[in-house]
Amino acid sequence: SAGGVCVVGSINVDEIVVVPRHPLPGETLLATSSTVAPGGKGANQAVAAARLGARVGMIGAVGDDGRARTALSLLAGAGVDLTDVVPVDGPTGIARITVDDVGENTIIVVPGANARVDDALVAARSASIARAAVVVLQGEIPVDASACAARLATGRVLLNLAPVIGVPGDLLQAADPLVVNEHEARLLLADVAGRTDPDADDGRIAVLLQEQGARSVVLTLGARGALCVDDDGVTTIASPRVDAVDTSGAGDAFVGALAMRLADGDELRTAVRFAVRVGAFAVGSAGTQPSYPWAGDELPSAAAENLPLRT
Ligand code: RIB
Ligand code: NA
Repeated sequence: SAGGVCVVGSINVDEIVVVPRHPLPGETLLATSSTVAPGGKGANQAVAAARLGARVGMIGAVGDDGRARTALSLLAGAGVDLTDVVPVDGPTGIARITVDDVGENTIIVVPGANARVDDALVAARSASIARAAVVVLQGEIPVDASACAARLATGRVLLNLAPVIGVPGDLLQAADPLVVNEHEARLLLADVAGRTDPDADDGRIAVLLQEQGARSVVLTLGARGALCVDDDGVTTIASPRVDAVDTSGAGDAFVGALAMRLADGDELRTAVRFAVRVGAFAVGSAGTQPSYPWAGDELPSAAAENLPLRT
């Protein structure tokens, strides 16, 4: 049946180490703990949407190693349809994540099987894409595959350009919304428009991105919240205040929640209001997918005050 969310994207195993602080180049540090957990921006977003009650299908690839099972475990647990996840020869994608004691992280991704998600693999699953109300894309699979998915979509395309990769104009123009954080927004502006505008405020940056062709733009602002730009103008949304334990994958929780609400027919700003609360929930406990809320969980209440635009 029509509707629901289709995520076309990456599936990883995350190797997470916790350190007192990030090491300097050439430095050796002792970790205080380490864990292995399912990850990948695509898979994380699929889990987030499914846990909140969306019907979700995933298109992607895992390798033929023992990690594949770990990578898919919480997707299966959340009820994500894995019919379109293809096993390929070679290793499953890996992400090495380092988290310091204030919850800041750095991530290095080794794509593995994710690099094999090409336009042919995606085109062969066109029915799954065409029936989705929202198709969710990121920057961790080859861009041709994402561009192909955007062409096959009949519903809304949510393009989370994380990490920032070069995108063809028609992919950017399909984005409704384009979702990026501040860092990604500035990189993307430099890439597509050749401009850096270090002094541009958040609202201006989002408007500049929309002028590059995206139908709407959501700029995530970490602990401050998010802002969105569509035909109705700029809306800023403050995040609830929470103690950050681990920010890794919080952006993916936000994107999954946004996709779920857009698939339900919410307006963009309404969906963003919900998604910042889901992101805030996710930073409150360790890890990526294990920290995402289920439909019955109590989310932090929306911030009372408006988010002032930083200029
Ligand atoms: O956004 C967090 C994710 O980025 C991690 O789960 C890791 O796998 C990388 O893809
Ligand atoms: Na978390």
